[in-house]
Amino acid sequence: MRRQVLMIVAAGMTTISLAWSTPARAANEAEVVAEHLIELVKIGSGVVSEHQATINDAAKAEKGFTADFVANQVMERFKKQTKIDLRIPNVVPQANYYLALVEAERNVVDEAQPVINRQGVGFKGFLHAVFARRVGEHFYKKTGVRMKLTGINYRNPNNKPDDFEQEVLRMFNDPRHPKGQAYVRNTTVDGRSVLRMIDPEYAVASCLSCHGVPKGERDIAGIKKEGWKEGDLAGAISLVLPLKQ
Ligand code: HEC
Repeated sequence: MRRQVLMIVAAGMTTISLAWSTPARAANEAEVVAEHLIELVKIGSGVVSEHQATINDAAKAEKGFTADFVANQVMERFKKQTKIDLRIPNVVPQANYYLALVEAERNVVDEAQPVINRQGVGFKGFLHAVFARRVGEHFYKKTGVRMKLTGINYRNPNNKPDDFEQEVLRMFNDPRHPKGQAYVRNTTVDGRSVLRMIDPEYAVASCLSCHGVPKGERDIAGIKKEGWKEGDLAGAISLVLPLKQ
């Protein structure tokens, strides 16, 4: 078998490690995995955003925004975009990574059910970025892969960019950077070989009720708006994938 998935249990943490086929191919294979993982996070966050009005509906209790619903939506859309069907994972290389991410998304929606289904409350604080942050936490516990949503003028200190991310975000903000192009680099973190991928996110119309103008006005979450306009750099999804060679 060319590819193999090892399960390592260390200090109570289950880490999935990849055994790459050959060192020369490792970077390419890792890049594909990183791209797909970022796609799965984006799709999940998009599903949350699309259902924001339902989630914020004070009149309704059971909203049907369940872990199963979200996981199915994510797998369906992922299949449409990539032709990869996570429902038949035994034919998908590195499927354990993708399934762990879908499982993390499931965990987050499951845990939020009491909040999502609370009647009589409109805005409940369950939104795209909270979803992404919690998915990142679950996913890290499952796999040892770090994934986060970050930005230059971050709202939540947990989303604060590290030095590397800061530098890349600055580069994304430069008008000379081709819009939408992700940044990839093989480097080391804590002495380990890793692949870092950072994928820029831009503001679209639906973001502006919270992040738009007038700058400084409070949004529905009570946080000051950033003053973004459509097309502005909003932030990035950052992934740190350990390479096992
Ligand atoms: C309903 C309000 C709301 C909408 C709509 C919204 N956001 Fe956010 N966004 C937030 C809040 C609140 C946070 C901080 C969440 C947290 O605690 O991590 C946030 C965080 C972020 C972050 C992470 C960095 C940070 O500030 O901590 C990015 C990037 C981001 N949003 C981009 C977007 C984009 C792109 C869109 C549109 C596709 C969008 N947001 C739509 C409320 C919103």
